[in-house]
Amino acid sequence: MTTAYDAVTARIANPTVDIILIGDSVGNVCLGFEDTLPVSMAMMKHHLEAVVRTRPRALLVADMPFLSFQLGIKETIRNAGDFLQRGAAAVKLEGRANRVETVRALVDCEIPVMGHLGLTPQSVNVMGGFKVQGQRADTALRLLDDAHRLQDAGCFALVLEGIPAELGAQATESLTIPTIGIGAGPECSGLVLVFHDVLGSTEGRRPRFVRAYVEGFKLLQDALSRWAEDVRKGTFPTQQESYRLPKSLEEQISN
Ligand code: KIV
Ligand code: NA
Repeated sequence: MTTAYDAVTARIANPTVDIILIGDSVGNVCLGFEDTLPVSMAMMKHHLEAVVRTRPRALLVADMPFLSFQLGIKETIRNAGDFLQRGAAAVKLEGRANRVETVRALVDCEIPVMGHLGLTPQSVNVMGGFKVQGQRADTALRLLDDAHRLQDAGCFALVLEGIPAELGAQATESLTIPTIGIGAGPECSGLVLVFHDVLGSTEGRRPRFVRAYVEGFKLLQDALSRWAEDVRKGTFPTQQESYRLPKSLEEQISN
């Protein structure tokens, strides 16, 4: 699974991945926010619709943004249903056993739900930063318990983010639904990585769980600067890269 936020990323991702996530990571990856908290339903719908227009074959999962699933069951169903009406096949929401009732209500409305446990970015202020979760006996056991409760509530899959590999392995072995890991070790059923991370297209330091398969940021920046250089030197555009008048008109114009 990877993320896509627009038509270009969706078209690039679609042939190779099983699931495209319209992630609320769009907030920090594309919209310049520090975290995902400012991302709204309106923003998510805007990006979801761009992806849907490309008619991807991959399963489309839309991420429920902060405050779109906390203000009561009715509003949650309205928001999740809105995503499905716009072309998503499922929604994803962050949270532990405290979200069991929410998941049940959505599944009861025929809305498939992917859970998301561990380092859940919408909880950044409670976690005191983006820190690996489940590193103590009590928090590790709680995570396994949460995973089972979310499975029992009807989640069809669980994203496990930022947890020790052993915990990712244990959850994957003991659950019947697939786990999709990100910074959760190699034993999860599937893996998710943000599109721009796989393609090295973000600036700055990379977390441990990221492997960039191309230095996208540098590659694109270099290409753009070569273009600007050619423009300034006057070597772009050439005659061949320009439109011409018919021969008969050429003289009239120059007179
Ligand atoms: O928003 C996102 O990209 C995500 C994945 C990293 C799981 O939630
Ligand atoms: Na997300």
